[in-house]
Amino acid sequence: MREFRRVAQLRTASAFRNHLSTSRVPLEFDEDVKSGPDSPLGQPYVLGDWTIGNRFAVLPMEGWDGDVEGRPTDLTKRRWQRFGLRGAKLVFGGEAVAPRVDCRANPRGLVLTEETRDDMAELLALLLRAHEEHVGSTDDLVVGLQISHAGRYCRPSPGGRPEPKMLYRHPILDERLSIGSDEAVITDEQVEQAIEDCVRAAVLAQQAGFKFVDVKHCHGYLGHEFLSAVDRPGRYGGSFDNRTRFLREVVAGIRSEAPGLEIGVRVSVFDFIPFQAGIDGVGEPVPFPGDTYPYAFGGDGSGTGIDLTEPLAFLDMLIGLGIHLVCITGGCGYYNYHIMRPCIIPAKGTYQPPEEPLLSVARLIGVTAELKRLRPQLTYVSSGFSYLQEWLPNVAQYVVRTGQTDFVGIGRMVLSYPEIVADVLNGRPLQRNKICRGCSRCTTAPRNGLVSGCYLTDEFYRHRPEYEQLERIIREQ
Ligand SMILES: Cc1cc2nc3c(=O)[nH]c(=O)nc-3n(C[C@H](O)[C@H](O)[C@H](O)COP(=O)(O)O)c2cc1C
Repeated sequence: MREFRRVAQLRTASAFRNHLSTSRVPLEFDEDVKSGPDSPLGQPYVLGDWTIGNRFAVLPMEGWDGDVEGRPTDLTKRRWQRFGLRGAKLVFGGEAVAPRVDCRANPRGLVLTEETRDDMAELLALLLRAHEEHVGSTDDLVVGLQISHAGRYCRPSPGGRPEPKMLYRHPILDERLSIGSDEAVITDEQVEQAIEDCVRAAVLAQQAGFKFVDVKHCHGYLGHEFLSAVDRPGRYGGSFDNRTRFLREVVAGIRSEAPGLEIGVRVSVFDFIPFQAGIDGVGEPVPFPGDTYPYAFGGDGSGTGIDLTEPLAFLDMLIGLGIHLVCITGGCGYYNYHIMRPCIIPAKGTYQPPEEPLLSVARLIGVTAELKRLRPQLTYVSSGFSYLQEWLPNVAQYVVRTGQTDFVGIGRMVLSYPEIVADVLNGRPLQRNKICRGCSRCTTAPRNGLVSGCYLTDEFYRHRPEYEQLERIIREQ
């Protein structure tokens, strides 16, 4: 097992700087974080008709806490209120919301249909009200909804058995889901149905009051899987043009059926081969026959390298489609979590991080910066900052101030410490006891059928019955 220095121990700027240098982590930061009118993170951002009040974005964070029909429960409502109440002015998607029950990623995933539209409108209203009460005007707050078809990772029914709707046979991932035939590969007609479903969900999102929808293309779900469907025959696989047809057709449908609704895209711009635990528990790439691994969008064929040629072509396509807002992420939580949500303690049952987690953070930040440098026309939200812990504000200010991103997206830290944005912008010291430490309880819980949340710092979850159950699961060998 590899030991990594705890970020919490890096108490001074020079300790943090030394650690970055000795671990060869290419990250820079500002020593002083500014508040008030001079704060780079507090500057508004103008995007078309919107003025977005500051440079913090809440990333989509699902809670595995909807009801059987995909309606929000009290837990969902609490989470969304917390998204709204502490000051980030962009909510990029809220959480994954499926356009149909049978394409959600878990039996407690939210669903947007005619039947649930008003519930989603209520969820949005709760977020806006919380923002108004605790922060102020919502005129400079922009909230979008993430439309997510889970594709290969559909587990819609009680019990959560896999019911994949995938695009191609994958030599490693099929084995993990015990897929032995082509039955789960959806036809082009089923793809067309999925497009219709996504468009209908976007129309409903507009009716519910969301300002934009995120047509999700990340983390191994359907949109992302299209991008690597290199050996799928027919209209939706093979060439880059075919692999991006799904997005173009969804966008055309939204433009025609929901005029005025803005569109954003959250995309995994790089991917690696699936990882597995080695004999020492540390993650290692799954051996792959042949010289090149072809199923990593944004990969260089080696399985663990990056080539941004296709991601840049993807961004060019977004620009051509009149899409401005893009949220950059990488990889997939199901098979190479460490490149997507860096942490020190992995979710129970996965592998130990194979690299210093700050390196994984730096990769996400660096790739976003490179894309922004090469395609500055787009508005960027970056991901993967939570593991920076005490140093999140310092790195965030540096990357915004130097134009490496437009918005700093925050995922897990919003669960543990939603006040972080207000504390940073108002110049208050960080509340160290609320900082997300990358313990992965928020992921271990849903992997074991429990609702997600921060079981470490949020007293609300510590007092729920699931807490003891989760601790038992973690203690078990
Ligand atoms: C509990 C949990 C739920 C998540 N839910 C979603 C989701 O619904 N949609 C999505 O695109 N990403 C989701 N993510 C990924 C996060 O948005 C984010 O990319 C990741 O946690 C890295 O950012 P962070 O370091 O700020 O946490 C989730 C991550 C976690 C840990």
